Amino acid sequence: MSVPVTCKDFFCTESHPQPVGIIIFGASGDLTSRKLLPSLFNLFLRGLMPDDFYILGVARTEFTDETFREKVKESLTGDNGKIQDFLERTFYTQGEYDSISLYSDLKWRIKDLEKRFTTKGNKIFYMAVPPSLYLPIVENLGDLGLTSQENAFSRVIIEKPFGFDLDSANELDKKLHMTLKEDQIYRIDHYLGKETVQNILIFRFANSIFEPVWNNRYIDNVQITVAEDIGVEHRAGYYEHAGLVRDMFQNHMMQLLSLVTIEPPSTFDADEIHNEKVKIFRSIRPFPLDDLDSWFVRGQYGRGKIDGKEVVSYVEEPGVNPNSKVETFAAAKFMIDNWRWSGVPFYMRSGKRLQKRVSEIIITFKRVPHSIFPQLPVKNIPSNILKINIQPEEGIVLSFQAKHPGPKLCMSTLTMDFKYTEVFGTRPPEAYERLLLDCMLGDQTLFIRDDVMRESWKIFTPLIKKWESEKDISKLDIYEAGTWGPASSDELIKKDGREWYNAL
Ligand code: BG6
Repeated sequence: MSVPVTCKDFFCTESHPQPVGIIIFGASGDLTSRKLLPSLFNLFLRGLMPDDFYILGVARTEFTDETFREKVKESLTGDNGKIQDFLERTFYTQGEYDSISLYSDLKWRIKDLEKRFTTKGNKIFYMAVPPSLYLPIVENLGDLGLTSQENAFSRVIIEKPFGFDLDSANELDKKLHMTLKEDQIYRIDHYLGKETVQNILIFRFANSIFEPVWNNRYIDNVQITVAEDIGVEHRAGYYEHAGLVRDMFQNHMMQLLSLVTIEPPSTFDADEIHNEKVKIFRSIRPFPLDDLDSWFVRGQYGRGKIDGKEVVSYVEEPGVNPNSKVETFAAAKFMIDNWRWSGVPFYMRSGKRLQKRVSEIIITFKRVPHSIFPQLPVKNIPSNILKINIQPEEGIVLSFQAKHPGPKLCMSTLTMDFKYTEVFGTRPPEAYERLLLDCMLGDQTLFIRDDVMRESWKIFTPLIKKWESEKDISKLDIYEAGTWGPASSDELIKKDGREWYNAL
């Protein structure tokens, strides 16, 4: 059963960004053409770009402004006139990231563009480059005064990974802070830009009916799944050093967990929300290193079938070491030791080459305490389940019991179903649109503050170190591509008398 939802009022708190120049390092790369430029163009189409702006691409590849525009054009769809207007504000500077001459060229170029587009000295630098380049670029920009905030703003957006463990993240951060203040650093986690992820906060804190039951008295367990059907694709170079725990758990999964579990902040203010995240991460029970396999399992995909097509195993992918011990799947049970969540297990899993692409949060409520219905024991009355569909079928589903029509007392489980596309008549916008807009507006709420990032690394660093020191003896279960991961993942949850939602 689907209950129609009406969208009556629309309260919008957005404002319009100030003039700005957006300088993208790594402008010839994949991220720029697949996400950044299309997102900036969509903001432009929606009238959300400032009246005065320019985009300056920077990379090693030889392009002129003209040839770069041709490449940009390929990544844009929409009204040709609008594309043309957008391209007229798009420029390119070529250079080696470690060469001083690139930065002096840039300084000159930026000055010229600022005059032409009256952007008042405001700048955003986007680091769409490998992490080893973040520091040299930021230091060079700093040396030339391009990160100075005198009478203007200068912000730097940094893609993950922010370090590869606690020490390296601290080191990177310390050095970045020699040039930048925390309010200039925008650490991006694109999951926070997804509409359905932002909706978790609206759902929890703009409705009064859920808060009273949002705790260990009513919630039995929570499952968070972020499953992908794609494999490692062309990213072996990065993935072989990262693995799934660094790639998905330390950032995206932890952000989802935090939004479900934080205490209500007093206002929707970046620092207030980040403070709550720090508190929740500090309440997560450390994993017992001497019994880690009972809490955290890892796997790697073998051969199998996705959509009926044979796919190769991880170790057969191009660029992957044939003896690789890198995990492409992980499942874990998290416990949060605070008043609200004491005793509620949070089962989390993520993997590549799983049965289908789905990201969802499943909140299972406790069963009724007593059955008043003859011949219907409590164990036969299903729990209410609240399912937050992050993607690809964005929405929220609540299941509940109702009387089945007829003269007898029969019960059915029904669902109330909100589908984003049905209600709003459109797919949610790309996460990067929201995040780029927020950076232009100077709003860091959906970005990761330094201490939030550190607390998350504190949880995972001991585990990662253990696995890496035991590379050959550490447990890594091979699973068939196209399944829901290794059997050990099912065992992890079955031990507690529960099942993964997809198996219910
Ligand atoms: C990225 C990871 O951060 O997120 C990728 O590096 C992963 O490995 C991707 O595929 C998933 O993002 P999305 O938005 O497709 O769920």
